[in-house]
Amino acid sequence: MLHDSHHRYGLITRFFHWFMAVLVLQQFFKFGDYINDGEHWLGDTFGPYHTSIGALIMLLAIARLLWTKKQKSQRPQTPGVLGKIAKGSHHIMYTCMLVMPPLGVLYIYGKGYPVKLFGMTLLDKPVEKTEWMVSLGNFHAVLALVLVALVFAHLSGAMYHHFIRRDETLKRMV
Ligand code: HEM
Ligand code: HEM
Repeated sequence: MLHDSHHRYGLITRFFHWFMAVLVLQQFFKFGDYINDGEHWLGDTFGPYHTSIGALIMLLAIARLLWTKKQKSQRPQTPGVLGKIAKGSHHIMYTCMLVMPPLGVLYIYGKGYPVKLFGMTLLDKPVEKTEWMVSLGNFHAVLALVLVALVFAHLSGAMYHHFIRRDETLKRMV
């Protein structure tokens, strides 16, 4: 029940998936910064937690990958080209969840601000701005777009399996 099987993802994988799906989806509210410079209820409500929740996503992604590795031989498989595409997109989503937080840190620090996580100071305010950090940190926004596109394709894939092919793909994750 806790472990995956060939027919169904176990409780731990499902917990990781849905808990992190909620965390990742709410990170997308950060796009709300484009509306009125973030001065609205969306920015006010979710903005302050963006960095801490981002760091939490990264830690959970590491734990989830370790767990996934342990379950490798007994997980549900999707054969064929579609299965390969799905697997490839899962890998890129994991990469985004691991790489976006450090890029976010570089962006903030490079701009000359301190980096605070869960109310604690991770990095004190730097003496000056660092241009190369900001340049690298700008990829955070690029990966944000990649992740949105993949999550949208992922959701569409899940709906396609469930409502058109009427197979077990969605059921084995819920
Ligand atoms: C996997 C976790 C994360 C996700 C999915 C995520 C997602 C996003 C998204 C969707 C945006 C809006 C992009 C845009 O403005 O075009 C954004 C912006 C931003 N994020 Fe994150 N983020 C994550 C983690 C973090 C972390 C850990 C930090 C800092 C420690 C951070 C700092 C920022 C900053 C400063 C911006 C505004 C500047 C920019 O657009 O590059 N993020 N993030
Ligand atoms: C929004 C609603 C979502 C739905 C309906 C959904 C549905 C599913 C389904 C049905 C599977 C199993 C696919 C298979 O067995 O081939 C799956 C796996 C997966 N999903 Fe989602 N998903 C959603 C959101 C997300 C989000 C936001 C992320 C992270 C960015 C994500 C990342 C993954 C990953 C990495 C897997 C591979 C299995 C694993 O490593 O845990 N999903 N999803």
